[in-house]
Amino acid sequence: MKILMVCLGNICRSPIAQGVMENIVKNENLDWIIDSAGTSSFHAGEGPDPRSVDIAKQNNIDISSQRSREITKQDLSDFDYIFAMDKSNYKDIEKMCDPSQKSKLKLFLKFGELENTDEVPDPYYTLGFDHVFELINTACKNIHKKLS
Ligand code: 4NP
Repeated sequence: MKILMVCLGNICRSPIAQGVMENIVKNENLDWIIDSAGTSSFHAGEGPDPRSVDIAKQNNIDISSQRSREITKQDLSDFDYIFAMDKSNYKDIEKMCDPSQKSKLKLFLKFGELENTDEVPDPYYTLGFDHVFELINTACKNIHKKLS
């Protein structure tokens, strides 16, 4: 199983999603490959936002060595699932997809069966990293159950 987590900058939300899912994969001894990317190259080469590093660390997950990169066409063929953190990310990725690849693209929280929410809010200009972590953590647990 190869899973790609995608947000806009690949410094706030998708690095947390990668870290949380990698942690599940490690604890469950799965051979899944998890990665993350952004729909923009705004922060390419940079490490995650310190607020994301902190909230992950509080939950015993180290995401500090991740580096931001922009999603590529190759990713759309390489990965089995591409999870978009919000609807804007979804639309941007959808434009890059060949018709046959569209079925791999999912809204992360919808596929993760969250009730009442289908977007991970962009926390870059706001606070709320705790809330973002909780949403991502729940979705990752549900996705693990669903796919294993
Ligand atoms: P992310 O958050 O998409 O969760 O990584 C953002 C990071 C940077 C920007 C926007 C969102 N930015 O505009 O630079």
